[in-house]
Amino acid sequence: MKYDFDTIIDRRASDSVKWDVGENELPMWVADMDFPTAPEIREAIAKRLEHGIFGYADVSARWRSAYVSWWSERHGYTMDGEALVFCTGVIPAISSAVRKFTTPNENVLIQTPVYGTFYNCILNNGCRPIESPLIYENGAYRMDFDGLEACMANPQTSLMILCNPHNPTGNIWSREDLAKVGELAKKHHVIVISDEIHCDITAPGKSYVPFASASDTCREVSITCIAPTKAFNLAGLHTAAIYSENPVLRHKIWRAVNTDEVGEPGSFAETAAIAAFEQGGAWLEELREYIFYNRSMVKNKLFEQLPEVFVSDGDATYLLWIDVSAIPGNSREIAVKLRELTGLFVSDGEHFGPGGEHHLRMNIACPRALCEDGAERLIRGLKKIRES
Ligand SMILES: Cc1ncc(COP(=O)(O)O)c(C=O)c1O
Repeated sequence: MKYDFDTIIDRRASDSVKWDVGENELPMWVADMDFPTAPEIREAIAKRLEHGIFGYADVSARWRSAYVSWWSERHGYTMDGEALVFCTGVIPAISSAVRKFTTPNENVLIQTPVYGTFYNCILNNGCRPIESPLIYENGAYRMDFDGLEACMANPQTSLMILCNPHNPTGNIWSREDLAKVGELAKKHHVIVISDEIHCDITAPGKSYVPFASASDTCREVSITCIAPTKAFNLAGLHTAAIYSENPVLRHKIWRAVNTDEVGEPGSFAETAAIAAFEQGGAWLEELREYIFYNRSMVKNKLFEQLPEVFVSDGDATYLLWIDVSAIPGNSREIAVKLRELTGLFVSDGEHFGPGGEHHLRMNIACPRALCEDGAERLIRGLKKIRES
């Protein structure tokens, strides 16, 4: 490997949300990575830093073309660069969309178990989550189209937040699934906001399907949120983009993020995104290999040492969605005990809504030695809980 993913960097003294933990604790919860970003990105940021002037910034034509080229070369979808809108993050964009496209008390549709912060975006803006749980069978998840249609047909449902690929289950949704979602949304006049922040972390050789590329209808009914922040570990730089080919939706979301004052970049937001999409490809390829090796390592250790606990099938994200239904207690109790017994801090599944009651989510985007330590603590802790 050309790039180093093995070195352990101490993040405790860096104001990290994830690493605000006790001395012997090992945090494998929130979705950021314990790797420094690509050297090419660090160099670009250092150069921008060297310039020394950090006045109000804007995004340039190069920022637009960096996104367009990346999506067209990697994901087979050619966007119109002029239709991209800068936003400081995917969550600020989704929250703005909820405020703009709904009135209080309306329903916003989500497919659970799903990234828990979607609940905040909905509830904090006076709306109600309407849940269409994914179907879970033989360790794998799929969409429940009957349930989805029933939720969309509810006259109070005006918006759906789609997670593509899906956090926490790791599903890469197929073109057919996405096209069906688009058809149902059109039929029931629901706007789809497709959160595609995890799209670049897929198993080597696997790629995702951008929602807007699945059909003309999908393009018409949707707004897409994309960013380099998950794949390149840049969440603290607050840089994302919103895309819609529907001019009415695009105008509205542009007004929304400007009204909410989340539409202006910081000095490093543009530099980092351009460097990631123009120069980060080789680093990302190695990162994906590394992460999916970590993924299979934890899966294999579980299979050998505690086979009743297993990881759901999933080809995307660096998040393992672990079925602990064979262990006594619900996911919250298990996560608390695991932390007490071993210092391993993982996310409890209840945080992800219905369907998460017997799962844990474990972030394996870390140097191999930490990942091995995490797997060992997980297995040791779950065995103790099972025996207690
Ligand atoms: C599905 C999903 N959307 C959005 C975010 C956060 O996005 P941002 O940091 O750009 O607000 C995360 C972070 O984990 C996520 O998993």
